[in-house]
Amino acid sequence: MLSNFISLKYFSKRKINNLITLTARIKKNPQKFKRVLNDFTIGLLFQKPSLRTKTAFYLGALQLGARAIYFSPQEVQMGEREATFDVARTLARYLDCVVLRCFSHQTILDFVKASTIPVVNGLSDFLHPSQVLGDLFTLHEVKKDIRRIKVVFIGDGNNVCHSLLYGFSIIGGNLVVATPENYSPNREVVQEVKDFAKVSGAKIEVLHDPIKAAEDSDVVYTDVWVSMGKEKESSKRIKAFKKFQVNDKILKKAKKTCVIMHCLPARRGQEITSKVLDSKNSIIFLQAENRLHSAKAILVYLLNKKFSQD
Ligand code: CP
Ligand code: NVA
Repeated sequence: MLSNFISLKYFSKRKINNLITLTARIKKNPQKFKRVLNDFTIGLLFQKPSLRTKTAFYLGALQLGARAIYFSPQEVQMGEREATFDVARTLARYLDCVVLRCFSHQTILDFVKASTIPVVNGLSDFLHPSQVLGDLFTLHEVKKDIRRIKVVFIGDGNNVCHSLLYGFSIIGGNLVVATPENYSPNREVVQEVKDFAKVSGAKIEVLHDPIKAAEDSDVVYTDVWVSMGKEKESSKRIKAFKKFQVNDKILKKAKKTCVIMHCLPARRGQEITSKVLDSKNSIIFLQAENRLHSAKAILVYLLNKKFSQD
């Protein structure tokens, strides 16, 4: 069966843990992996801007011995200049894997349907699984047993939040999500992760009080209030999220050892204060670095059979 990396929900606890272990191996000994994707070509097809995801997969491909081609939003105009299906079919004739960043998650699903090569979700409005794999690895590095810590996500219940929910509910962690009332995570996702949690023993909670959520937490994670594509809602969102800024007041409730996470890019002074972002407890730039190691693990897992086994 063709494997893709579209959502963490299609990965078992064992597979996610294997990907975390593979990321650790690649980070520790990159030289060992420098030829594992010799002669492969990876395409990066992005409909939105990117700094980390583009760099992680592009450079990651090169460091594994592969080539990379980046397609900017303007040059392909997928869905406008050409149908998504036709782009997928064409690229499959040239490339070995496509990393896709889209607005609508449906675009990724349509692309996958027509593609005969592996597809990686490099972010959609609904999910950001490559980010969260990197984050799980970062937490494993910093906190060791991820299942023993309380992680709090404060912010918008969209892509990053959904992937965190899938990740923690499958591996069996403790995740509390705090969003404004009208920005809760998708209802179906919440139902699904509750089912996953029954199997894994995870503790998942969704509430609307950031102060209460932060109590006794080991990790506070946030994301922008205005995601890419939502710019028109900017002023409405800034108003709605006002109480959800990660600042000293919220962190007073957390453990002294609590670490701060953010997928970046950050809007300093909106969802997070500069003081917190730059504090000694911030592991935000370690998170950014780990996107590279985890992107390499995803490519190796999808393209080299030696590393695909469960
Ligand atoms: N965190 C993340 O995906 O960053 P970019 O949007 O810069 O890729
Ligand atoms: N929620 C953000 C994540 C950026 C990595 C966005 O979609 O813009």
